[in-house]
Amino acid sequence: MELSSATCARFEREVDKYPADQKQSAVMACLAIVQQEQGHVSPAAEDAVAAYLGMPPIAVHEVTTFYNMYNQQPVGKYKLNVCTNLPCQLRDGDKALKHVCSRLGVEPYGSTPDGLFTVQPSECLGACADAPVVLLNDRQMLSFMSHERLDELLETLKAHP
Ligand code: FES
Repeated sequence: MELSSATCARFEREVDKYPADQKQSAVMACLAIVQQEQGHVSPAAEDAVAAYLGMPPIAVHEVTTFYNMYNQQPVGKYKLNVCTNLPCQLRDGDKALKHVCSRLGVEPYGSTPDGLFTVQPSECLGACADAPVVLLNDRQMLSFMSHERLDELLETLKAHP
């Protein structure tokens, strides 16, 4: 995969934040840029990032697969990460995941056929006291997500396809 000059310019701005011999420190930022532009990080994109940063492709793949904010395949317009880690499990995080999946007719990690929603279980999102919690599109934390609030969320998002 060939990176566009615009993408390379964005990469360069990230690389410039680190000493010249540590450009691979920009790997997370470069992967985030790829995802922002393409919606997910494909194996070809990982290879392109690796080549740009002078890293082994497997090292880039390790980063992509370690953090679940990186999408390894296309996802819906709205990605819902429902925390199912232990503290949230104790406050109905698992039930929240099942409720969302049931409402949307998908399995965990599945997407709706219209491409609007992807639902994923998530590790701790750092808001355990607010359980159940949902992270929307890797950016917006939603707290105290009772079934009623989840239904409201889904209806609101469906109204903005
Ligand atoms: S365990 Fe769910 S936010 Fe921490």
